Amino acid sequence: MDKVKFVLVGAGRAGMVHGRNLTGYIPEAELVAIVDIDENKARQSAEEVGVKKYSTNLDDILKKEYIDAVCIGSLTFTHREIVEKAADAGKHVFSEKPLAQNSEEAKKIKEVVEKTGIKFQIGFMRRYDPAIRKAYQMIQDGIIGDLVMIKSTGRGPGLPPAWIWDRSKSGGMLAEVSAHDIDSVLWFTGKKPERIYMEAKNFKSPQANEKFPDFYDHYIVTISFQDGPLGLIDGGCPVGYAYDGRMEILGTKGMIRIGTTEGNGPVLMTLDKKAICDTHDAWRNRFKEGYLEEMKSFIRCIQKDIKPEPSVEDGFRAVQVVEYAHRSLSQQKPVYFDGEW
Ligand SMILES: NC(=O)c1ccc[n+]([C@@H]2O[C@H](COP(=O)([O-])OP(=O)(O)OC[C@H]3O[C@@H](n4cnc5c(N)ncnc54)[C@H](O)[C@@H]3O)[C@@H](O)[C@H]2O)c1
Repeated sequence: MDKVKFVLVGAGRAGMVHGRNLTGYIPEAELVAIVDIDENKARQSAEEVGVKKYSTNLDDILKKEYIDAVCIGSLTFTHREIVEKAADAGKHVFSEKPLAQNSEEAKKIKEVVEKTGIKFQIGFMRRYDPAIRKAYQMIQDGIIGDLVMIKSTGRGPGLPPAWIWDRSKSGGMLAEVSAHDIDSVLWFTGKKPERIYMEAKNFKSPQANEKFPDFYDHYIVTISFQDGPLGLIDGGCPVGYAYDGRMEILGTKGMIRIGTTEGNGPVLMTLDKKAICDTHDAWRNRFKEGYLEEMKSFIRCIQKDIKPEPSVEDGFRAVQVVEYAHRSLSQQKPVYFDGEW
């Protein structure tokens, strides 16, 4: 196969990270068209990255243009319908996380992917972050012995847009902000959870509770794995100070730390004994390399006929963990995981 030809659906914050990578940094790809329900956004985004075709209608593009793959950057509750359209047309799919807003929708996506045999990759770009990949390899090589505890922190500087407040559309803040942390914990352990517990509160956004009483903005989730380690995920928005994504992996023979709050710029040490530096401002910059490498890998998998990773099953599992965590939150007690894996 020559270049892999893409249509991008949803040209917003995440979608245009891929739009810019596909047009500016991946010679093996061609972005043929951009689709967004907002016509202005579709046109402006297409102009920005030098793509000639734009539309508000995916069916039209799939019918008229030669396309190999669909890149989904639209809102979470639209993912299932777009995957189905793409799979019906025999196109491969790269989809942003979370896979869907609930496990019912996620299961439908999994079934469509399995039935049609299209290649599908979920956008857990942290798996392509150099430090996280290296840590994964160290764990596989037994360098820190048996896993004891995995802590993953995911905090964003600003409050996510209002559609995310509605759990029935986004899957909730845990899905929106910490799907990546959940995937990392599951990836590192390679195991199914045994027990899940969640505590959450709304500290900074009372306005969200007016319409969505179950909205929370900060949370902790513990995951206990049978014959395996303990997992601890903490997250929340808006924290203001940084985009803060860090991990700590404790083993019987050592510990691995990944990430810092400090950005990549210089640190100024002053005579009044202060250290001053920038922090990571946004996820798109902190994981810049991850976003590029995940897409390159997806393209390689299409060209070489390899199953992409992370897979639709990985996406489904993260949605399952979110749902069990929410069940624990509403029941105010730990819950045993007895769901499909
Ligand atoms: N991987 C990551 O780190 C990361 C970061 C942010 C967001 N996301 C995910 O990306 C998705 C989009 O989030 P965002 O923050 O970029 O949202 P956004 O609002 O910035 O962009 C979404 C875009 O999709 C368009 N859209 C909505 N429904 C559509 C449809 N049916 N067809 C075509 N276009 C449609 C909107 O008009 C908008 O332009 C969400 O699932 C979110 O969880 C992932």
